[in-house]
Amino acid sequence: MINGHTQLFGVLGTHVQHSLSPIMHNAGYQVRGINAVYVPLRASAVQDAFAGLKALGFTGVSVTVPHKETIMPMLDVIDPVAKKIGAVNTLVFSRKEERTVCCLGTNTDWIGANQALAEVATLAGSKVLVLGAGGAARAIGFGLQEAQAEVYLANRSEDKGRKLAAELGCNFVSLQDLPALRADILVNATAVGMTPEANKTPIDASFLRHFSVVMDIVYAPLKTRLLQEAEAQGCVTVSGVNMLLYQAMEQWRLWFGEEAPKAAMREALAQSFEQKP
Ligand code: ATR
Repeated sequence: MINGHTQLFGVLGTHVQHSLSPIMHNAGYQVRGINAVYVPLRASAVQDAFAGLKALGFTGVSVTVPHKETIMPMLDVIDPVAKKIGAVNTLVFSRKEERTVCCLGTNTDWIGANQALAEVATLAGSKVLVLGAGGAARAIGFGLQEAQAEVYLANRSEDKGRKLAAELGCNFVSLQDLPALRADILVNATAVGMTPEANKTPIDASFLRHFSVVMDIVYAPLKTRLLQEAEAQGCVTVSGVNMLLYQAMEQWRLWFGEEAPKAAMREALAQSFEQKP
């Protein structure tokens, strides 16, 4: 029941009306009997929105496109890993005597990717090819390096790919050299294959047999063309929805200091996919 003691959480961004985070987190509050609510916070004026969150006493907020980088200068403390990635996706507010006294920014995207992959593979010592050079590739590439994987990066725009590989301190592979690359894991960190362009795929199907595990960050559709083709080649596949779940579970841990109710959050996600046409 929502009352005067209800704790406030939400997801801040410009396209949050489609976010699955409210579904996951609210299902968790319900199963644990926590008096909290998690709402979409749609705003383009990030500074005003941030002041509002502090003034209204929010406890925790997820940050998404396009505010993950621009919100950083407003925060009191930024976790060193988020600083290195250059983006935050999680805010943790501390309050004292009805006032917000501190806001910590951190990043759980890379943890989400690592944990989703760790369900089916050992990351330390594995060779991983990451496709893409945007914010997602950056967080995932960083996380894989943290997990002691040997990371290779490929990208459509070579300059951008080379630049990110140099920043991460990982290997770069050009599109011409891609057919010769053999690795344990392939991660698509681009939006290629996402609805409404679900007929697209970021890599030729004939290369997929060069990998044992294939993960897609795209989760709409649930089974992307990349994952379908990878399955047909005998690869173990990991859906982007697992990364989504694990990054949310890590947020829960930061906000409540306890393990997240994984089964309830996973079930809520599954139901939301079933309800889609
Ligand atoms: P995000 O921050 O969400 O990762 P982004 O910064 O827009 O998003 O990055 C998108 C990534 O997907 C980029 O690596 C982009 O490649 P370019 O650097 O060449 O633009 C990649 N990408 C997007 N559309 C693509 C397509 N049709 N084919 C191949 N790569 C694509």
